[in-house]
Amino acid sequence: METTAADRQFAEDYRHAREIPRDGLTAWRAAVAAEIDLRPGSTVVDVGAGTGAFASAFADWFGARVFAVEPSDAMRALIPRTDDISVHDGRAEALPLPDDCADAAWLGSVVHHIGDLEAAAAELRRVLRPGAPVLVRNSFPGRCARDLRVRFFPGAERIVDGYPTVEETCAAFATAGFSRVALHAVPQESAPSLADFADRIRRDTDAKLRGLTDAEFERGMLRLRSAAAEEPGRPAVSWMDLLVLS
Ligand SMILES: C[S@@+](CC[C@H](N)C(=O)[O-])C[C@H]1O[C@@H](n2cnc3c(N)ncnc32)[C@H](O)[C@@H]1O
Repeated sequence: METTAADRQFAEDYRHAREIPRDGLTAWRAAVAAEIDLRPGSTVVDVGAGTGAFASAFADWFGARVFAVEPSDAMRALIPRTDDISVHDGRAEALPLPDDCADAAWLGSVVHHIGDLEAAAAELRRVLRPGAPVLVRNSFPGRCARDLRVRFFPGAERIVDGYPTVEETCAAFATAGFSRVALHAVPQESAPSLADFADRIRRDTDAKLRGLTDAEFERGMLRLRSAAAEEPGRPAVSWMDLLVLS
Protein backbone atom coordinates (compact mmCIF):
# COMPACT_ATOMS: atom_id res chain seq x y z
CA MET A 1 0.00 0.00 0.00
CA GLU A 2 1.27 3.46 -0.88
CA THR A 3 2.57 5.62 1.96
CA THR A 4 0.44 8.73 2.31
CA ALA A 5 1.33 12.13 3.76
CA ALA A 6 -0.86 11.18 6.74
CA ASP A 7 1.19 8.00 7.32
CA ARG A 8 4.40 10.05 7.24
CA GLN A 9 2.92 12.60 9.65
CA PHE A 10 1.81 9.81 12.00
CA ALA A 11 5.33 8.36 12.04
CA GLU A 12 6.90 11.79 12.72
CA ASP A 13 4.37 12.43 15.49
CA TYR A 14 5.02 8.98 16.94
CA ARG A 15 8.73 9.68 17.07
CA HIS A 16 8.15 13.06 18.73
CA ALA A 17 5.56 11.90 21.23
CA ARG A 18 6.44 8.30 22.06
CA GLU A 19 10.20 7.89 21.80
CA ILE A 20 11.60 8.06 25.32
CA PRO A 21 14.81 10.04 25.73
CA ARG A 22 17.69 7.57 25.98
CA ASP A 23 18.65 8.91 29.44
CA GLY A 24 15.19 7.93 30.63
CA LEU A 25 15.76 4.26 29.76
CA THR A 26 18.56 3.48 32.25
CA ALA A 27 16.41 1.04 34.23
CA TRP A 28 15.36 -0.71 31.01
CA ARG A 29 18.96 -1.17 30.00
CA ALA A 30 19.70 -2.74 33.39
CA ALA A 31 16.55 -4.91 33.26
CA VAL A 32 17.53 -6.31 29.85
CA ALA A 33 21.15 -6.84 30.92
CA ALA A 34 19.91 -8.81 33.94
CA GLU A 35 18.11 -11.23 31.61
CA ILE A 36 20.63 -11.77 28.82
CA ASP A 37 24.30 -11.13 28.26
CA LEU A 38 24.13 -9.22 24.96
CA ARG A 39 27.49 -8.16 23.54
CA PRO A 40 29.10 -7.30 20.19
CA GLY A 41 28.35 -10.24 17.92
CA SER A 42 24.95 -10.93 19.55
CA THR A 43 21.87 -10.54 17.38
CA VAL A 44 18.47 -9.21 18.44
CA VAL A 45 15.26 -9.25 16.43
CA ASP A 46 13.19 -6.16 17.19
CA VAL A 47 9.61 -7.09 16.22
CA GLY A 48 7.38 -4.10 15.46
CA ALA A 49 10.40 -1.82 15.71
CA GLY A 50 8.41 1.36 15.02
CA THR A 51 10.79 4.26 14.46
CA GLY A 52 13.73 2.25 15.79
CA ALA A 53 14.30 3.83 19.21
CA PHE A 54 14.98 0.46 20.84
CA ALA A 55 16.85 -0.95 17.83
CA SER A 56 19.28 1.97 18.24
CA ALA A 57 19.41 1.51 22.00
CA PHE A 58 20.29 -2.22 21.73
CA ALA A 59 23.06 -1.40 19.23
CA ASP A 60 24.44 1.45 21.36
CA TRP A 61 24.06 -0.23 24.76
CA PHE A 62 25.35 -3.69 23.93
CA GLY A 63 27.01 -3.45 20.50
CA ALA A 64 24.39 -5.95 19.31
CA ARG A 65 23.37 -6.40 15.69
CA VAL A 66 19.64 -5.72 15.33
CA PHE A 67 17.14 -7.00 12.76
CA ALA A 68 14.42 -4.35 12.93
CA VAL A 69 11.15 -5.78 11.54
CA GLU A 70 8.31 -3.31 10.97
CA PRO A 71 5.24 -3.47 8.68
CA SER A 72 4.56 0.26 8.29
CA ASP A 73 6.54 1.87 5.45
CA ALA A 74 6.35 5.29 7.11
CA MET A 75 7.61 4.02 10.50
CA ARG A 76 10.30 1.91 8.83
CA ALA A 77 11.54 4.95 6.90
CA LEU A 78 12.50 6.60 10.21
CA ILE A 79 14.55 3.69 11.58
CA PRO A 80 18.20 4.73 11.58
CA ARG A 81 20.24 2.72 9.07
CA THR A 82 23.63 1.85 10.58
CA ASP A 83 26.12 -0.99 10.24
CA ASP A 84 24.46 -2.61 13.26
CA ILE A 85 20.82 -2.22 12.24
CA SER A 86 19.21 -3.91 9.27
CA VAL A 87 15.64 -2.92 8.51
CA HIS A 88 13.04 -5.40 7.23
CA ASP A 89 9.46 -5.06 5.99
CA GLY A 90 7.47 -7.71 7.83
CA ARG A 91 5.12 -8.74 10.57
CA ALA A 92 5.49 -10.84 13.69
CA GLU A 93 3.35 -13.60 12.17
CA ALA A 94 5.68 -14.04 9.16
CA LEU A 95 9.16 -12.83 10.05
CA PRO A 96 11.34 -12.18 6.98
CA LEU A 97 14.35 -13.76 8.69
CA PRO A 98 16.16 -17.10 8.46
CA ASP A 99 15.92 -19.90 11.03
CA ASP A 100 18.13 -19.76 14.15
CA CYS A 101 19.46 -16.26 13.44
CA ALA A 102 18.92 -14.39 16.72
CA ASP A 103 20.00 -14.50 20.38
CA ALA A 104 16.99 -12.56 21.68
CA ALA A 105 13.72 -11.02 20.54
CA TRP A 106 12.38 -7.65 21.64
CA LEU A 107 8.64 -6.89 21.40
CA GLY A 108 8.16 -3.29 22.54
CA SER A 109 4.53 -2.12 22.93
CA VAL A 110 3.51 -4.44 20.14
CA VAL A 111 1.81 -7.52 21.63
CA HIS A 112 -1.63 -5.84 21.50
CA HIS A 113 -1.12 -5.03 17.80
CA ILE A 114 -0.38 -8.61 16.76
CA GLY A 115 -3.45 -10.29 15.29
CA ASP A 116 -2.26 -13.88 15.79
CA LEU A 117 0.00 -14.22 18.83
CA GLU A 118 0.37 -18.00 18.42
CA ALA A 119 1.63 -17.52 14.84
CA ALA A 120 4.07 -14.87 16.13
CA ALA A 121 5.28 -17.26 18.83
CA ALA A 122 5.87 -20.00 16.24
CA GLU A 123 7.84 -17.57 14.09
CA LEU A 124 9.95 -16.48 17.07
CA ARG A 125 10.63 -20.14 17.92
CA ARG A 126 11.88 -20.55 14.34
CA VAL A 127 14.18 -17.51 14.19
CA LEU A 128 15.55 -17.67 17.76
CA ARG A 129 18.44 -19.93 18.67
CA PRO A 130 17.60 -22.59 21.28
CA GLY A 131 17.25 -21.01 24.74
CA ALA A 132 17.14 -17.43 23.41
CA PRO A 133 14.67 -15.24 25.34
CA VAL A 134 11.68 -13.24 24.13
CA LEU A 135 11.65 -9.88 25.95
CA VAL A 136 8.18 -8.32 25.96
CA ARG A 137 7.83 -4.69 27.03
CA ASN A 138 4.12 -3.95 27.38
CA SER A 139 1.21 -2.75 29.46
CA PHE A 140 -0.93 -5.61 30.71
CA PRO A 141 -4.49 -5.61 32.07
CA GLY A 142 -4.59 -5.28 35.85
CA ARG A 143 -0.95 -4.14 36.07
CA CYS A 144 -0.94 -0.63 34.60
CA ALA A 145 -1.83 1.67 37.53
CA ARG A 146 1.67 3.19 37.55
CA ASP A 147 1.53 4.05 33.83
CA LEU A 148 1.42 7.86 33.79
CA ARG A 149 -1.25 7.85 31.09
CA VAL A 150 -3.49 5.68 33.26
CA ARG A 151 -2.81 7.90 36.28
CA PHE A 152 -3.86 11.10 34.52
CA PHE A 153 -6.33 9.58 32.04
CA PRO A 154 -8.05 6.85 34.12
CA GLY A 155 -10.15 5.73 31.11
CA ALA A 156 -6.90 4.44 29.59
CA GLU A 157 -7.17 1.46 31.94
CA ARG A 158 -10.26 0.42 29.99
CA ILE A 159 -8.18 0.41 26.79
CA VAL A 160 -5.44 -1.68 28.42
CA ASP A 161 -8.13 -4.10 29.62
CA GLY A 162 -8.56 -5.01 25.94
CA TYR A 163 -4.88 -5.98 25.56
CA PRO A 164 -3.72 -9.59 26.00
CA THR A 165 -3.17 -10.40 29.67
CA VAL A 166 0.11 -11.79 30.98
CA GLU A 167 -1.60 -15.20 31.20
CA GLU A 168 -2.96 -15.00 27.63
CA THR A 169 0.44 -13.93 26.30
CA CYS A 170 2.16 -16.78 28.14
CA ALA A 171 -0.45 -19.27 26.90
CA ALA A 172 0.05 -18.15 23.27
CA PHE A 173 3.81 -18.48 23.58
CA ALA A 174 3.49 -21.85 25.34
CA THR A 175 2.04 -23.27 22.10
CA ALA A 176 5.51 -22.75 20.59
CA GLY A 177 7.32 -24.17 23.62
CA PHE A 178 8.14 -20.92 25.48
CA SER A 179 7.68 -20.65 29.26
CA ARG A 180 7.49 -17.65 31.51
CA VAL A 181 10.86 -16.81 33.05
CA ALA A 182 10.29 -13.43 34.70
CA LEU A 183 7.90 -10.51 35.02
CA HIS A 184 9.12 -7.17 36.36
CA ALA A 185 7.67 -3.67 36.44
CA VAL A 186 10.36 -1.32 35.15
CA PRO A 187 10.39 2.51 35.44
CA GLN A 188 11.27 4.95 32.69
CA GLU A 189 11.65 8.70 32.73
CA SER A 190 9.37 9.65 29.87
CA ALA A 191 10.25 13.35 30.11
CA PRO A 192 12.25 15.60 32.47
CA SER A 193 9.04 17.24 33.77
CA LEU A 194 5.29 16.66 33.69
CA ALA A 195 4.94 19.87 31.64
CA ASP A 196 7.32 18.50 29.03
CA PHE A 197 5.44 15.17 29.06
CA ALA A 198 2.15 17.05 28.49
CA ASP A 199 3.65 19.14 25.66
CA ARG A 200 4.78 16.01 23.84
CA ILE A 201 1.45 14.18 23.91
CA ARG A 202 0.02 13.49 20.47
CA ARG A 203 -3.23 11.70 21.15
CA ASP A 204 -3.46 9.94 17.79
CA THR A 205 -0.11 8.19 18.23
CA ASP A 206 -1.12 6.47 21.44
CA ALA A 207 -3.62 3.61 21.53
CA LYS A 208 -4.28 4.30 25.23
CA LEU A 209 -5.32 7.92 24.54
CA ARG A 210 -6.91 7.41 21.13
CA GLY A 211 -9.62 5.21 22.64
CA LEU A 212 -10.74 7.80 25.20
CA THR A 213 -13.75 10.02 24.70
CA ASP A 214 -12.90 13.67 23.93
CA ALA A 215 -14.19 14.63 27.38
CA GLU A 216 -11.97 12.02 29.08
CA PHE A 217 -8.97 13.22 27.11
CA GLU A 218 -9.60 16.88 27.93
CA ARG A 219 -10.13 16.16 31.65
CA GLY A 220 -6.88 14.17 31.68
CA MET A 221 -4.93 17.01 30.06
CA LEU A 222 -6.31 19.43 32.69
CA ARG A 223 -5.29 17.03 35.49
CA LEU A 224 -1.82 16.66 33.98
CA ARG A 225 -1.33 20.42 33.45
CA SER A 226 -2.43 21.11 37.00
CA ALA A 227 -0.04 18.46 38.47
CA ALA A 228 2.75 19.93 36.29
CA ALA A 229 2.11 23.40 37.73
CA GLU A 230 2.08 22.05 41.31
CA GLU A 231 5.31 20.06 40.89
CA PRO A 232 7.37 21.79 38.20
CA GLY A 233 10.58 19.93 39.08
CA ARG A 234 9.07 16.46 39.09
CA PRO A 235 10.21 14.16 36.27
CA ALA A 236 7.56 12.21 34.37
CA VAL A 237 8.23 8.68 35.58
CA SER A 238 6.07 5.90 34.19
CA TRP A 239 6.19 2.10 34.55
CA MET A 240 5.69 -0.75 32.13
CA ASP A 241 6.22 -4.50 32.40
CA LEU A 242 9.06 -6.61 31.12
CA LEU A 243 7.80 -10.17 30.55
CA VAL A 244 10.55 -12.67 29.73
CA LEU A 245 9.81 -15.99 28.01
CA SER A 246 12.28 -18.65 27.00
C1 LIG B 1 3.25 1.18 19.60
S1 LIG B 1 4.31 0.90 18.24
C2 LIG B 1 5.80 0.37 19.06
C3 LIG B 1 7.04 0.68 18.28
C4 LIG B 1 8.36 0.35 18.99
N1 LIG B 1 8.47 -1.06 19.27
C5 LIG B 1 8.50 1.16 20.25
O1 LIG B 1 8.55 0.59 21.34
O2 LIG B 1 8.59 2.39 20.13
C6 LIG B 1 3.70 -0.61 17.57
C7 LIG B 1 4.36 -0.98 16.26
O3 LIG B 1 3.99 -2.31 15.91
C8 LIG B 1 3.80 -2.35 14.50
N2 LIG B 1 2.93 -3.51 14.21
C9 LIG B 1 1.58 -3.55 14.09
N3 LIG B 1 1.18 -4.80 13.82
C10 LIG B 1 2.29 -5.58 13.79
C11 LIG B 1 2.51 -6.97 13.55
N4 LIG B 1 1.51 -7.83 13.31
N5 LIG B 1 3.80 -7.41 13.56
C12 LIG B 1 4.81 -6.56 13.82
N6 LIG B 1 4.65 -5.24 14.06
C13 LIG B 1 3.40 -4.76 14.04
C14 LIG B 1 3.19 -1.01 14.17
O4 LIG B 1 3.36 -0.69 12.80
C15 LIG B 1 3.96 -0.09 15.10
O5 LIG B 1 5.12 0.44 14.50
